[in-house]
Amino acid sequence: MKKLVIAIDGPAGAGKSTVARIVAQCLGYVYIDTGAMYRAVAWQALQSAKPTAETIAEIAAAGNIELTYADGKTSVRIAGKDVSEAIRTPRVSNMVSEVAQIPAVRQHLLALQRRMAESGGVVMDGRDIGSHVLPNADLKIFLTASIDERARRRWLELTAKGYQIDLGQLKTDIACRDKKDCERKTAPLIQAEDAVLIDTTQLSINGAVEAILKLCEQRSAHV
Ligand code: CDP
Ligand code: CDP
Repeated sequence: MKKLVIAIDGPAGAGKSTVARIVAQCLGYVYIDTGAMYRAVAWQALQSAKPTAETIAEIAAAGNIELTYADGKTSVRIAGKDVSEAIRTPRVSNMVSEVAQIPAVRQHLLALQRRMAESGGVVMDGRDIGSHVLPNADLKIFLTASIDERARRRWLELTAKGYQIDLGQLKTDIACRDKKDCERKTAPLIQAEDAVLIDTTQLSINGAVEAILKLCEQRSAHV
């Protein structure tokens, strides 16, 4: 059976990476978390006192971001350093959308992402995958959920890791990031015309996975 290329986009906390990872596992595909790539660039930028758009673009241009996947976990390295946990802090979350607005950063990561997907059999998640990175993907999903549910999920995740976070503040931060992602000029967060919308507000992780696997079955009968 032909290996599909699957694009999953949507706002923060919709369940993209959780669902994409399981779908990839079920199909024996590679999972590519493009948000982790933007986060790695943001993390590296935060290591210098005054990062500028030019220095941040140089970080992305170096192309030394590695994503590996083992035992159900994605590991992220930049310039040889393992930043898998460090890129998930609220500090990185609150500045990553600024980094993602820089056109040169997007251009460099786009090239890397297309190369990663070229042999097929991939599930790639992000914001602009169906609309920009992989416009010819065999299946495009736009995963969403209400802002209250998305904030609640992220809050549960962060508090389990020991962060003391105010749910209201987290909701504001997520809404602010979504707004920046939707309003940026280059490759904004948008539902591609041919994407299937799945709202996970009331849908379990398994429910979303099953819906996507069913669509994969239908698509692979036509390719
Ligand atoms: O996991 P969460 O939804 O919080 O975010 P993420 O997928 O890790 O992405 C972090 C940020 O990277 C997003 O808010 C976007 O600013 C940026 N991003 C992007 O611009 N384009 C992508 N394809 C993926 C992420
Ligand atoms: O990648 P994205 O930011 O879209 O979301 P995620 O990191 O996959 O999911 C955020 C949190 O929501 C995780 O802790 C998931 O386990 C949880 N989740 C959920 O409770 N119900 C869903 N249907 C999907 C995700």
